[in-house]
Amino acid sequence: MADKLVLGVFVSGGGTNLQAIIDCCEAGTIDATVGVVVSDKADAYGLERARKHGIPAVHVKLGKTGSTAWEQADAEHVRILQEHDVGLVCLAGYMRKIGPRLLEAFSGAVLNIHPALLPAFPGTSGQHDAADYGVKVAGCTVHFADAEFDCGPIIIQATVPVLEDDDGDTLAARILEQEHKAYPQAIQWFAEGRLRIEGRKVRVLDAKTPAEGEAIISPPVEIDQ
Ligand code: GAR
Repeated sequence: MADKLVLGVFVSGGGTNLQAIIDCCEAGTIDATVGVVVSDKADAYGLERARKHGIPAVHVKLGKTGSTAWEQADAEHVRILQEHDVGLVCLAGYMRKIGPRLLEAFSGAVLNIHPALLPAFPGTSGQHDAADYGVKVAGCTVHFADAEFDCGPIIIQATVPVLEDDDGDTLAARILEQEHKAYPQAIQWFAEGRLRIEGRKVRVLDAKTPAEGEAIISPPVEIDQ
């Protein structure tokens, strides 16, 4: 058994969340280490980021969700994670469904980040869907993962205002900055054993209480009150 919490991070793309996690691990901001990075895409830049830090980076080819190839990949995921002593699986821009074997082997130890205030705008383009819908406040969510996409008990959410001239890309960039703060925090709470799942709710033990009346109103209120 490793003495520090070992993370197995799943990516499908650029891996900026992975980078934020690696940086926090290396800086000692979170008491964990990234043991392995897994991707469904051979050319995911996240794999390259891992290699630059001397972290094993593995491409696991998946078939169609539910196919035999996908089931085999599910078993392969578990084998890889166990081989690297992983204690927490972090989905960080992983755009495929994870399988039942992984969920069973890592029950209560799989996190996901999503670029929207769940349960609004799940899927692969949450920020763009929020911008198109015309919401005034958007954000990101870190939650325990289950068999559904972007579902599962919520640990932390961060909000950002949506500005008048925003499109999906500018909003995505503003949300991403907050993702890089929220995900490492959720991982650190897990590492400290401070997360309790109670049905759909997650209790963060000894969490700070927001100041009374604290709120984001967007656009800001102008009238005197
Ligand atoms: C992030 O915005 C993440 O929240 C999102 O993919 C992006 C990956 O960026 N995930 C989802 O949409 C999951 N439904 P990154 O590769 O730069 O971390």
